[in-house]
Amino acid sequence: MLSIRIEKTDTPKQLPAADNPLKFGTIFTDHMFIMNYETGKGWHDARVVPYQPVVLDPAAMVFHYGQEMFEGLKAYRAADGRILLFRPDMNAKRTNNTNRRLCIPQIPEEDFVDAVKALVKTDAAWIPTKPDTSLYIRPFIIATDPFLGVRPSDTYQFIIILSPVGPYYPEGLDPVKIWIEDDYVRAIRGGIGEAKTGGNYVASMAAQLKAHEEGYSQVLWLDGVERKYIEEVGAMNIFFKISGTVVTPMLNGSILPGITRDSVISLCREWGVLVEERRVSVDELYEAAKNGTMEEVFGTGTAAVISPVSHLRFKDHVLQVKDGGIGELSQKLYDTVTGLQRGQIEDHRGWVFEVK
Ligand code: PLP
Ligand code: COI
Repeated sequence: MLSIRIEKTDTPKQLPAADNPLKFGTIFTDHMFIMNYETGKGWHDARVVPYQPVVLDPAAMVFHYGQEMFEGLKAYRAADGRILLFRPDMNAKRTNNTNRRLCIPQIPEEDFVDAVKALVKTDAAWIPTKPDTSLYIRPFIIATDPFLGVRPSDTYQFIIILSPVGPYYPEGLDPVKIWIEDDYVRAIRGGIGEAKTGGNYVASMAAQLKAHEEGYSQVLWLDGVERKYIEEVGAMNIFFKISGTVVTPMLNGSILPGITRDSVISLCREWGVLVEERRVSVDELYEAAKNGTMEEVFGTGTAAVISPVSHLRFKDHVLQVKDGGIGELSQKLYDTVTGLQRGQIEDHRGWVFEVK
């Protein structure tokens, strides 16, 4: 068990008012978790402290070579008062996969989960209770050596911050419009696409601005080599229901292995819905939209939950999804995933962790 020192703030902030819409990622709680790493010493000095600025040397390697990673998960307040996390062990595993790719030291999975639990427990009063709200948890690691040579850092900070949030998209569960990008590329196999690191997100911003200007909320990326096969959306994985079968791009090294994606695939298979993880071409989507077999399209992610898509734009073509509303399967998945997360549906898969 990770030993964590807790230093509480003397000046707690005002909790958000009940009618605050909790715009995603704008409000932060009273405390943060920090743990340091040094080669030869390992991870040490785990502590929960008052939320405060991070002071770093301007030469800190994270500023220059982007050696950093982040995660995203949520805490939920069940109707009976329990505090629940959804599959935090998977975030711990993904952290270590990301770390391996970025030459950041491994963190014991139990320590990752203990750190999340300790911080959430300290700021439990900040977990919002209204429907579609939760406490977003953002763990991240930064390289802190003051050094301008290119090599992995010898020192790091692992930090966790918390933010009470409403829906990620202003649309909520209303369908979003997606732009299929045919010029910029986010990631390629062998690169860092499957790591959760800032570099993938800055790579996405120019296309996202372009899509926003055209009235689209998110960018759907194509593979970086042939620019023909679907990869994922800026902050979610993508699913298509075509002629009754659920199809999603297989994990190929350039896509983030989403935890919601994994959960959705398991649920569909339990329900007897056929799921195919394979390459999906834009041509196939174009055909399916044209002949009316594209029944549903939805994105999956921690921040976005299950997010229905009404239409996709590719070059000059608009690919319409059936009636453009919320599909039956999308709604069932949304209800089941959020029901499990909030303790309304009993968990028999070991997905729900209670914070005590
Ligand atoms: N893909 C990208 C690029 C993301 O940023 C996210 C969000 O975390 C996802 C997919 C979905 O992953 P998860 O379901 O684990 O949140
Ligand atoms: C998440 O869903 O947790 C994410 O990390 C998406 C984020 C880029 C807002």
